[in-house]
Amino acid sequence: MKVIVSIALAWACMGAAWAQDVVKVGVVAPFSGAFADYGKQFDAGMKAFQKLKGDKAGNTKVEIVIRDTGGPSPEVAKRLAQELVVRDKVDFLAGFGLTPEAMAVSDVATQAKKPMIVFNAATSIITTKSPYVARTSMTLPQISAPLGTWAAKNGIKRVFTLVADYAPGTDAQNAFTKSFTAGGGQIVESVRTPLQSPDFAPFVQRAKDAKPDAVFVFVPAGEQSIGFMKAFNERGLAQAGIKVIATGDITDDHVLNAMGDAAIGAITSFHYSAAHDSPENKAFLQAYAQVAPNAGRANFMTVGAFDGMNLIYDVVTKLNGKIDADKAMEIIKGWKTQSPRGPISIDPETRDIVQTIYLRKVEKRNGELWNIEFDKFDAVKDPGKQP
Ligand code: PHB
Repeated sequence: MKVIVSIALAWACMGAAWAQDVVKVGVVAPFSGAFADYGKQFDAGMKAFQKLKGDKAGNTKVEIVIRDTGGPSPEVAKRLAQELVVRDKVDFLAGFGLTPEAMAVSDVATQAKKPMIVFNAATSIITTKSPYVARTSMTLPQISAPLGTWAAKNGIKRVFTLVADYAPGTDAQNAFTKSFTAGGGQIVESVRTPLQSPDFAPFVQRAKDAKPDAVFVFVPAGEQSIGFMKAFNERGLAQAGIKVIATGDITDDHVLNAMGDAAIGAITSFHYSAAHDSPENKAFLQAYAQVAPNAGRANFMTVGAFDGMNLIYDVVTKLNGKIDADKAMEIIKGWKTQSPRGPISIDPETRDIVQTIYLRKVEKRNGELWNIEFDKFDAVKDPGKQP
């Protein structure tokens, strides 16, 4: 009897020790459906980080648990996040490609007291929804406002805006309009395109008929970027002298080569280009090529996840594997690193990212298309949260 009790106790102790030696990161994102690449790039970004730094943060193993929303599907995202907390006992929630999914999970982060690291979803308001949310990607106002300022100073006077009809689109349109009109520019017309399976042709025709100097665009990266550029090309807007100015989602590195030469000359503002010239980006791209050799080019989602994993590793190391959400958030506030995209930090006031925003132009180099950076705005905070 005594022997059995001591064996049971030994097991229990081993269990406790084990529980402290592993930290779990539950990743919620689409891995199937129209937005499947978002999840796949998150996974590759996290694995690229682990390729460079190993699977341990200090003495603690960091385990990734993946859940597919098949989304956009806020209800599924919420249920999966709840299951990750209750059943899988994850220490962090992470991922979130799409705003509606991030918004739905923010309540779970608050109730379960789990740090929630957003690798992409980019509507300004997301980080205000829970004190446990922080973001390693971008916000649409942070990207769009500098582009409006730049366009007004660079001979663009009349703009037609075209954005996806959901919160990130509204954020992009409002921030661009504000800075562009403040610089003397005029918005001639604004349209919103459906989030699911849009047909861009009629919207692009309306843009052509309005005869603007440029069309400002935000659509979620990936298939929609290709769809928009195809319609823009087929309707002959470039020939009519109309430029594309957009958030970098439209010239997403992951699908840029699939757009063909129609994309050449597109001007975008963004936080990451695979062509960014730095030692950190080289190391990141090398690790990515090793973990995802057939996955195509890395993009901003891959980097959002890579940096998010870096942040998680620092928290796990500093807390020695015992994750307390309030202590974790204190470490996250003010965190700084040299990312593959350039210097980044987390604003201690808003838990949102502060970073360089680059202006880029699509150019062909050695037979491939790249977003080539030509100007920048340093240390940009989310203007969506400025009074
Ligand atoms: C979002 O839903 O927040 C989102 C999705 C795709 C992007 C950017 C933002 O390219």
